[in-house]
Amino acid sequence: MQNRKILGIILLVIVAAIVTVGILLPTTILKKNKHQPSTPRNSKVTFSTSSASTLTSTTTKEPDPIPTDAVQGIVYGVYNTSVGDDSKAATPGKGIGQYITHESPGKACDGNVSTKYVSFGPCSEGTSYDDDHGCGLRTGFFLKLETGSTLVNGLRVCTANDLLERDPIIVSLEGSNSTGTNLTLGASWTLLYDGPSGLLLDPGRRKCGPIQYFDNIVEYSSYRFLVSGKRRKADCIQYSEVKLYSV
Ligand SMILES: *[C@@H]1O[C@H](CO)[C@@H](O)[C@H](O)[C@H]1NC(C)=O
Ligand SMILES: *[C@@H]1O[C@H](CO)[C@@H](O)[C@H](O)[C@H]1NC(C)=O
Ligand SMILES: *[C@@H]1O[C@H](CO)[C@@H](O)[C@H](O)[C@H]1NC(C)=O
Ligand SMILES: *[C@@H]1O[C@H](CO)[C@@H](O)[C@H](O)[C@H]1NC(C)=O
Repeated sequence: MQNRKILGIILLVIVAAIVTVGILLPTTILKKNKHQPSTPRNSKVTFSTSSASTLTSTTTKEPDPIPTDAVQGIVYGVYNTSVGDDSKAATPGKGIGQYITHESPGKACDGNVSTKYVSFGPCSEGTSYDDDHGCGLRTGFFLKLETGSTLVNGLRVCTANDLLERDPIIVSLEGSNSTGTNLTLGASWTLLYDGPSGLLLDPGRRKCGPIQYFDNIVEYSSYRFLVSGKRRKADCIQYSEVKLYSV
């Protein structure tokens, strides 16, 4: 009798212990679980932050432009020239067919957005905006790359320091392997790109627009860049850089 009572008490204690453990253990686990999600969530946040910054750095990681150093440092300014036309040489000055002497074609290829190329085309300095019937348009430049034949399938135009009405909006790029005076002949050029400059959405002053990519698998030793549309009425066209890419 006595033994049974003792056995009963022991059993009761054991059952009570099991029940207690059964209740307490899941509670502890649950408590732990309550904390656990915050840990992965935190690490998830950290992860997504790091992946976001990786993504950002991937997006902001731009390809390097190809060097636009010209043979003998000469960048030829042109005016009254459309795609396929013979190049008409622009000269320094402030009149028709001229560019500001210290804002010469070479400034568009010097890698410095603080310098610019300013070209009047059919107008001259001070032409009233009301008389703008294409001021600065059909101007540009060509150069023979010092690096020799290079594949180009992207271009990017950068704005000057001021007057956004002068920004190029429609531009073209042609390539040629011709040499000497043949390079001035329209027939020597092959059209590679004719379209938006990427500046329609103003990136700000002294800033570059997005790279405009195009299909091209042929290398050329010379390139000609022309502007055929600008943002608004002005007496000239201006830009700080034209960058070429091979991607
Ligand atoms: C531009 O070139 C055309 C020929 O293509 C010529 O008739 C015209 O006079 C030129 N205009 C200027 C301003 O040089
Ligand atoms: C860029 O051009 C500006 C204006 O001429 C000049 O002050 C600056 O030193 C140039 N920057 C470089 C890196 O050559
Ligand atoms: C210019 O082109 C002509 C005709 O294609 C060619 O005969 C001549 O050799 C070329 N000149 C140069 C300097 O490349
Ligand atoms: C221009 O020259 C490069 C290098 O020799 C060559 O790969 C390319 O095919 C040439 N382009 C044309 C249109 O002949």
